[in-house]
Amino acid sequence: MRTALIVGNWKMNKTASEAAAFARELSQRLPGTSTGVEFVIAPPFTALESVHRVLSPGSPIQLGAQDMFWEDHGAYTGEVSAPMLKDLGCRYVILGHSERRTLFGEQSDSIQKKIRAALKHGLRPILCIGESLAQRDNGSTDDVLTQQLRESLSGFTGDAIAGVTVAYEPIWAIGTGKSATTEQAVAAHRTIRRALAATASAAIASGTRILYGGSVTPQNIESLLSSDQIDGALIGGACLHVESFVTIAAVVSAARSIGV
Ligand code: 13P
Repeated sequence: MRTALIVGNWKMNKTASEAAAFARELSQRLPGTSTGVEFVIAPPFTALESVHRVLSPGSPIQLGAQDMFWEDHGAYTGEVSAPMLKDLGCRYVILGHSERRTLFGEQSDSIQKKIRAALKHGLRPILCIGESLAQRDNGSTDDVLTQQLRESLSGFTGDAIAGVTVAYEPIWAIGTGKSATTEQAVAAHRTIRRALAATASAAIASGTRILYGGSVTPQNIESLLSSDQIDGALIGGACLHVESFVTIAAVVSAARSIGV
């Protein structure tokens, strides 16, 4: 079974000191060793260092970033590179989030360059894809997911694709309190796995983790993870509170039968 992955995407929330206090408390309350599940928090860039300082080398919590630029250094005002993130202890980086696509005009060609740069520097990219409500309503969800996946990974070797985690985040479910049903998420994950098999291979498709994101809560996480198609979650709002993060962690750990 693929190791479950729970990622807290804090978006533009928490100052460096608030983030450090959160990480300290979370470290004390999360289970010590977890073999069946990985936990990641992705604070804003400005809080990566303070959180990194709090997390001990053996911490069950890993660090992720919410975006990065594809060049290593140079005249790119406002940008942050993969080597900079690595130096702050990041293991993961979220790429192609729908908020970056819709609010900042990010498109598949730049997402593809970012994935390539992340892999080159040993960061694990979490590629976000998902359909809008209009696209779901007009029946084009499968086409949209397949196209986003193909465009973002075109020209990649199978080995490179094996290093990518995919997050299915339907735009209409993000921050709305209206999660996809488990059935809707499972159907989308199957589509994504089929597209991965076509782009890479069946073996790579079955080894790739696909997370669900969009209004995940302590209440619905168990149902979502009851399917072996759903390998974890990319969580916004519910990961901003230690209490709900810890509850989600307990549910996931129990679901993967490793105890808390
Ligand atoms: P919410 O969990 O707040 O809906 O956010 C989901 C998300 O966008 C995670 O990347």
